[in-house]
Amino acid sequence: MPLHLSSVEDLLRPGGPTVYHFDPMQVPFLNPGAQTTALREQLIQALTEVLDRGHFILGPQVAALEQEIAAFVDAGHGIGVNSGSDALTLALRALDVGPGDEVITTPFTYIAPAESVIQVGARLVFADIDPRTFTLDVDEVARRCTPRTKAIIPVHLFGQAANLDALLSLARERGIRIVEDCAQAIGASWQGKGLGSAGDIGCFSFYPTKNLGADGDGGMCVTSDDALAKKLRMLRVHGIERRYFHDLHGYNSRLDEMQAVILRVKLPHLKRWTTRRGEIAARYSAGLAGVPVDLPMTAGGNTHCWHVYALRSERRDELQSHLAASGVPTLIYYPQPLHLQKCYADVGWTLGDFPVAEAVSRTILPLPMYPELEDAQVDHVIRSVRGFYGG
Ligand SMILES: Cc1ncc(COP(=O)(O)O)c(C=O)c1O
Repeated sequence: MPLHLSSVEDLLRPGGPTVYHFDPMQVPFLNPGAQTTALREQLIQALTEVLDRGHFILGPQVAALEQEIAAFVDAGHGIGVNSGSDALTLALRALDVGPGDEVITTPFTYIAPAESVIQVGARLVFADIDPRTFTLDVDEVARRCTPRTKAIIPVHLFGQAANLDALLSLARERGIRIVEDCAQAIGASWQGKGLGSAGDIGCFSFYPTKNLGADGDGGMCVTSDDALAKKLRMLRVHGIERRYFHDLHGYNSRLDEMQAVILRVKLPHLKRWTTRRGEIAARYSAGLAGVPVDLPMTAGGNTHCWHVYALRSERRDELQSHLAASGVPTLIYYPQPLHLQKCYADVGWTLGDFPVAEAVSRTILPLPMYPELEDAQVDHVIRSVRGFYGG
């Protein structure tokens, strides 16, 4: 019997989710605990082995996970770190991005890529997004390139690649480095290859609600460049190659064995989970055809891993309330684009600077999406949306 949360608040409540009996009329927005429940025996056995071994940080489980993730995404090396946010910061550091440099990224995303630019002391430059894929608009990126542009961070938002063909050729022409933010896109592909291997460095998050989620924080950089891999390995442990000899200004950003072993238990299921997400997305799109909302699309050359299935509605807030009253609580990603966040008030960006990101923030509505959703629950969501629009 599937387990679910009573509400989004349950997910955020210390002590974890409340477990209720399956009810197709109640559709929790997220349910990361379901995988832990389904894989409980294997997880306990694997965790017990780590406890018994007594090696807790950057040990054999992390090394094995690094190889498995690198192979999964078609990259040469994996470097396990503390979080997806750290992966981005370390990636910029490894590429020597710092004061005097500019980095272009999207204003419509989780804040981590923007934060990483600030953390390395570079100038944060936003470029507006494409209204259909919600990823960087390459013409906008080109318009904002200067001789100081050192890197671009495309975010493969909601689970599909940004326009990598155009971004990679722009970057090659101008000698700009590409750091792919793949936090939401493990299991998606571009031109038949796993995301993360096309640019200089790919950055992954294993936050519990991600498509491959740990039971705590975790992240990984991937690269096929041996020198960058070596530098990333040094940066994550205080800049050392040999213990107590610090060649670089580094960080404490180590992945631990408990998270690594949990991820290794889950990884063999990821393809199946991604397939199920695709089935749910197809069911939503078929069931919502003809409703006056914009449904998500997959750009040519991409396979989508459906981290998020989001529609757009001009009546988004009313629709969200209607869904909540129907047992379908939702969370808006992202209600305020990054250029309008208080923490960047000193930069002077204002409303109107990135009109597409602003319009998408006003209209976007993610629907429940995780592989454990039952068809009956998906159908209830579809009926509830259709009901709002009068059938
Ligand atoms: C697009 C994006 N980038 C980066 C991150 C940061 O990952 P983490 O939460 O593991 O630091 C997230 C996640 O939450 C994300 O969604």
